[in-house]
Amino acid sequence: MKFVEDALTISGIVRDWRKKGETIGFVPTMGWFHEGHLALMKESIKKADRTVVSLFVNPRQFGPHEDLDNYPQDHHRDSALAEGIGVDVLFTPTLETMYPKGYQTNITVQQLSRGLCGASRPVHFDGVATVVTKLFNLVQPDIAVFGEKDYQQLALIRQLTKDLNFNIEIIGHPIVREVDGLAMSSRNKYLDKQERKNVLCLFQAIEYAKKRVGESENGVRTPELIAELLSIIQSAQGCVADYISIVDKTTLTPTEIAGPGNVLALAVFVNNKVRLIDNTKL
Ligand code: PAJ
Repeated sequence: MKFVEDALTISGIVRDWRKKGETIGFVPTMGWFHEGHLALMKESIKKADRTVVSLFVNPRQFGPHEDLDNYPQDHHRDSALAEGIGVDVLFTPTLETMYPKGYQTNITVQQLSRGLCGASRPVHFDGVATVVTKLFNLVQPDIAVFGEKDYQQLALIRQLTKDLNFNIEIIGHPIVREVDGLAMSSRNKYLDKQERKNVLCLFQAIEYAKKRVGESENGVRTPELIAELLSIIQSAQGCVADYISIVDKTTLTPTEIAGPGNVLALAVFVNNKVRLIDNTKL
């Protein structure tokens, strides 16, 4: 596996592959790899001749009081994991490579950025859209794999790919979970033993909602279901819902009736310290 930090080198490597007629898969990440990240990489390796993984903790997608400074990092461990599964290049651009002095441009995906996580993280999705656009330009992949764990992010990236005429196939990968149902996340590292138990309320809420909608004839009134889910979250010690929403799977606009095919998305603060998200198709 090659390690690349600068723009010219990554563009050169990709150009050489392309000359040989090879296809390129891409998985953007912020590191601290877990099975979720590795599943995305495996998918890319399966579908494309070459796979580039980027690892860049993007400051522009963190708000002023978020966890940028504490975001878990271990390049050594991450490199070994990526190499072990057959990634071709680990691209770890420096801050200077991504945002050189005088950098000015921002990408906004207007409507899809507003609700759900965008409501409590106002700069987040501009940061994501900007960095992903830049990475797409640098790597110029044929396919790019993103996790459904970040459902709103995936929707937004599909939209920007279309809007900005990127000739890239966006592949969504299902959420990878721990055996007890907790969605894998780099941020799970922040949880102590008790908190780790309490956050299972997220998965319990998801299971409950799926069952409730599955058993209903014509869906469930959204406010009714949200109230029931809220009580599941509230009964877990230290857990406070940031939002619980039931939305259309493409437009992400709230629905009046929670029915099959809609998406339940939720975000929960644990002891005011960690914010975790999860979602499911109903
Ligand atoms: P990061 O949180 O490191 O996630 C990288 C990719 O892994 C994203 O596509 C995310 O949805 C996916 N992922 C994380 N946990 C997952 C799980 N449990 N199951 C399946 N996929 C999972 O998302 C980002 O980084 C950044 O916003 C990024 C896109 C790299 C832009 O900076």
